[in-house]
Amino acid sequence: MGELRENPEESRNESAETRSQERSPCSWYASLWRLAAGRLCACWNKRLERRIRERTEELHRLNLELEAEIGERRAIEESLRRRATFEQEIAAVLANFINLPSHKLNQEITRALEVLARHTGSDAGVLWELTGDGGTVELRYQWFTGELTERIELPATYPVNLFGWWMDRMRAFEPILISSVDALPDEASPERSAFQQLGVHSVMAVPVASRGWLKGFVALWAIRAPRDWEEDDVPLVRLAGEALSSALERQRSEQHVRRLNSLLEKRIQRLNALRQIDICIATGMDLHVSMGMLLSQAREQLGAASAAVLLLDEESQTLGYTFSEGVPLQSLEQTRLKVGEQFPGQAVLTGEIVRVDDIETLPAASRPRSPALRCGEFRACCAAPLTARGKVKGALELLFEEPVSPDREWLDYLAMLASLAGIAIDSHRLVSDLQQTNRELIAAYDATIEGWSRALDLRDRATWGHSDRVASLTVRVARRLGVPEEDLVHIRRGALLHDIGKMATPDTILLKQGKMTEEESDIMEQHTTHAYEMLSPIEFLRPALDIPFCHHERWDGSGYPRGLKGEEIPLGARVFAVVDVFDALTSDRPYRSGWSRDKALEHICALAGSHFDPRVVEAFMQELLEHGGGLREAA
Ligand SMILES: [Fe+2]
Ligand SMILES: [Fe+2]
Repeated sequence: MGELRENPEESRNESAETRSQERSPCSWYASLWRLAAGRLCACWNKRLERRIRERTEELHRLNLELEAEIGERRAIEESLRRRATFEQEIAAVLANFINLPSHKLNQEITRALEVLARHTGSDAGVLWELTGDGGTVELRYQWFTGELTERIELPATYPVNLFGWWMDRMRAFEPILISSVDALPDEASPERSAFQQLGVHSVMAVPVASRGWLKGFVALWAIRAPRDWEEDDVPLVRLAGEALSSALERQRSEQHVRRLNSLLEKRIQRLNALRQIDICIATGMDLHVSMGMLLSQAREQLGAASAAVLLLDEESQTLGYTFSEGVPLQSLEQTRLKVGEQFPGQAVLTGEIVRVDDIETLPAASRPRSPALRCGEFRACCAAPLTARGKVKGALELLFEEPVSPDREWLDYLAMLASLAGIAIDSHRLVSDLQQTNRELIAAYDATIEGWSRALDLRDRATWGHSDRVASLTVRVARRLGVPEEDLVHIRRGALLHDIGKMATPDTILLKQGKMTEEESDIMEQHTTHAYEMLSPIEFLRPALDIPFCHHERWDGSGYPRGLKGEEIPLGARVFAVVDVFDALTSDRPYRSGWSRDKALEHICALAGSHFDPRVVEAFMQELLEHGGGLREAA
């Protein structure tokens, strides 16, 4: 009861009820009822208030949870949006690589690194590649945000064993995500020091592999402030890194193919050059022409500024400059080098290529002083021996205005050129020697033939020098008739030996003073067939057979031995027949005096068209008229 009185309203109600109860029993019960009902209501109200309060608190809690969930969902959505953007941008960049020309690759790789760095919140993206058979790591591409206040200089390359902890993870294809390089373990102290020196706070590194082999890694660095990395970014970075590596590999393959093509082209050029020189030598072209071509190719294919050939004089064992390209030979013509002296002399002495790739790297005292070196500013020189049939013939000297770094192929080509030069010189000498021997042999043959002709003249009691005279005039008339020069020598030999067949004619018939019998005439006429039999086995004299065999044939076919007619008779024989008869008629013989020139010419003209070829007679007359004298003067 005491508690109910605490409420003044209730106390007032109670007082009213009490007063009413005091007034009647019914009203007392009514009052009591009202009191009880009031108390009951109050109790319900309290319970209701408590329930409402509890509900409100629960609603508040639920609201907080809902807000938290919404925030979380928003974060996830944001993350998904960021990732989607990241994926789209990376996909767009990587799609470019498919048909990207090589010259744009550098730009696009740098752009890809920028996309990776920006989306991962990094300040730098670097692509490193393993090189040197995996022994070194080489910086290939880098991107740094322009917001950095200081430029970071990275080493171009470093050995992998410098950062063992790092490389072990890369080789195991494990990504590295470090929020603070200060927290790197002790075994990674070289890496920690390196990052601290570079001012890098946080590092993400993702290995790049191709066909199961580690090719390098992509490194993303936070430099301005540390950051936490998201592991979800690793697959995209790996994917991008592998795409970049593939693009680089493709670029290298294309470069390799281009290099091979260039090398192939150069080899073809060199082979063609060798073939041209070879043809030049094989066809016996003038030595100056073949040497000029060889030296020109030596300069062009080997990059020499100057090339010269020095020939060895075996007797004096000295070398002289004989052919040159690029260096004025006049300045070197008088120069002679002893074997063993300077580069060319050493090449001859050793039989090996002697060279200096960069003269300026040598001390002044030991620099080569080849005479050709004085003709210009040269940085490198070499000399190769010219050999043929196991003997050194001279040296090929090349001079270069820039330092050289010859490879095996270059040296082989030089050796081939030197060998060809040796062969060309040797062949030329052989041919020259052969030609000289041939000339001497021909001179000896001709001297022999002239000796035979004089002996025949003596035996035949012809006038002194008959054969020589008729041979000379026959050649002149034949030349007038257009016989080629190379055939005239055979005409001369044939004329000198025209009656060689008479060697087989017995003296009794040959020297008979009176008229011959028919049988004797037959024997005498056989001197033409004897001449054929005697000379035809001799190859050297076979082209000269026409005159000894056919000089008694007549234009009208009445001659012997075969009764040839008109132009069936070789031209040389037709010419000779006119000259021989004229000389015989104008010569004194033991049994008669020689005819006068005019009488003999008149006789010859009378026989034109019967005994002689009219065209030949005409040419003969012109020849004599132009020289104004008789046969002896004309001859
Ligand atoms: Fe004769
Ligand atoms: Fe004669």
